Amino acid sequence: MKEFHVAIDGPAGSGKSTISSLVAKRLNWTHIDTGAMYRAVTLWAINNKINLNNEDEYTFLDKIKISYVNDKIYLEGKNVSKDIRSEEVTKNVSLVSSFPYVRKKMVDLQRKATEGINVVMDGRDIGTVVLPNANLKVFLTANVEERAKRRYEENLLKGVNKDIREVIEEIKIRDKKDSTREESPLKKAEDAIVLDTTYLTIEQVVEKIIILIEKKEIEKDGN
Ligand code: CDP
Repeated sequence: MKEFHVAIDGPAGSGKSTISSLVAKRLNWTHIDTGAMYRAVTLWAINNKINLNNEDEYTFLDKIKISYVNDKIYLEGKNVSKDIRSEEVTKNVSLVSSFPYVRKKMVDLQRKATEGINVVMDGRDIGTVVLPNANLKVFLTANVEERAKRRYEENLLKGVNKDIREVIEEIKIRDKKDSTREESPLKKAEDAIVLDTTYLTIEQVVEKIIILIEKKEIEKDGN
């Protein structure tokens, strides 16, 4: 059987990364979190004090090595999975990922990483730009209050107690930036299946996606 590619897109807090990781584990496939890659670029840019607003300064991407292995992200060989979740990275990542130069580099890397393997890839532009021929495209949504609640609870686990209203505002700002940028905005692919996760548990969403994959595999093998 030829490789199978699943594209999962959606806004902040829709559950993309958690769900994609669990789906990939169930099937013993590879999971690639493209958000983590944009976060790693942002982390490098902050640590090396480049001017984040100047697209020309991102040529460092020709030299640095970013890799994603078993749900861990490595920057120049160092595991930065925790560091990329910092407040500072979260605040700046939408700006960094709005530059066409950055996107082109990341999209090339992401496409290469899927060659010849079964993959669940999650992000904002996977079904529309990175893998337009994916075998299955899913667009995850949830209302903004529920997404903020999830982020709020994640924060608490990290020992951060931020007002829920502030979290709602931050999510709204990031959604707006991600959906309105010119280059590859967050958008549902025409052929994506929408799953509203507001009232579903993680397990229920995983189960739904596994069923969709199985259906598509049967269709694919039948052709
Ligand atoms: O997990 P969370 O929803 O916070 O976001 P993420 O998946 O870690 O992505 C962080 C940011 O990277 C997003 O807000 C987007 O600005 C950007 N991103 C993107 O532009 N394209 C992607 N394929 C993935 C992420």
